[in-house]
Amino acid sequence: MGQNLIFTDDIMATIGQIEAQGGHRLTVWIADENTASLVPATHVITIPAGDDSKTLHTVTGIWDAMERLGVTRRSLVVNLGGGMVTDLGGFAAATFKRGVRFVNVPTTLLGAVDAAVGGKTGFNYNGLKNEIGAFAPASDVILSTRFFDSLPLTEMKSGFAEVLKHAMLSSREEFLRLLNHDFTAPIDHKDLMERLRRAVQVKVDIVARDPKEQGEREALNLGHTVGHALESLSMKRGKSVPHGYAVAWGLVAEAVLSHLKFRFPSEDVHRLGAFVRDNYPGFPFTCDDYDDLLELMRHDKKSRNGEITCTLLSEVGAYRIGQAVSSDDMTAALDILRDHLGL
Ligand code: GLY
Repeated sequence: MGQNLIFTDDIMATIGQIEAQGGHRLTVWIADENTASLVPATHVITIPAGDDSKTLHTVTGIWDAMERLGVTRRSLVVNLGGGMVTDLGGFAAATFKRGVRFVNVPTTLLGAVDAAVGGKTGFNYNGLKNEIGAFAPASDVILSTRFFDSLPLTEMKSGFAEVLKHAMLSSREEFLRLLNHDFTAPIDHKDLMERLRRAVQVKVDIVARDPKEQGEREALNLGHTVGHALESLSMKRGKSVPHGYAVAWGLVAEAVLSHLKFRFPSEDVHRLGAFVRDNYPGFPFTCDDYDDLLELMRHDKKSRNGEITCTLLSEVGAYRIGQAVSSDDMTAALDILRDHLGL
């Protein structure tokens, strides 16, 4: 699943090179209402923004527009936006006339570090997230930090949680460096590009070894068994939390479990806990929510035989996928998570 990663702020020149090298005579961009004006493209298919629009209906709208614009297998599709646009646009391109080449240009840190890379495409179906889709990698992913200046801070922090996750899977040096990050300082683009480059490489390396998530790719779900449960419960209760906030809280809970089961160093749990307490406020759960959270975790895509399953660490960089976790251990981890967050 080769993907060409291009780190540059010069998006239009890079697309021009891809068009010239590939001999593409028609390029069609897919963007949402927020990203359509970010670059001066000629043929733009604009879709509604937000996860609620990540539907088959929006996909058919894209196919209809592609028909009208005369897209062929020799055309090029460019997806410009966050994870919703790259997932959905990627699926539409990969299936139109059995596959049109597409390039992802993520405009959020969360999209850049996760969704745009690794070939997962699809849409929500019957109330289930990403229920229908295909592994279909973009031929190229253009990674630029220039879009991040206009991102709300919560959106930056949300993406940063995934950057932190990738450091926890790979490098203690990078993990400690990230824990010194100051969100109140202006964006240092050079430094952020380097952090992004390292984080994306972690994903690329894992995906290269296990493109279709038969094993090792599950490591990328670190923090997500707990994180997804918190995110789902917050949605059900109509008080949605940003994905990355839920992941940050999930990373702490799963670091605690890693300590309980594999002696993951307590000093690293404490450092992580302090960083998350200081930067990811608003944890809206109490011990009355535990039963619902555990039930959600048992129904997680990663769950095996109804057991709660997590990726855990014996130390930063040493991951163990598919670890069954008992309800008692998970309850203890949720208690300790709330302690770390000062609740
Ligand atoms: N978001 C995790 C993965 O792409 O496998």
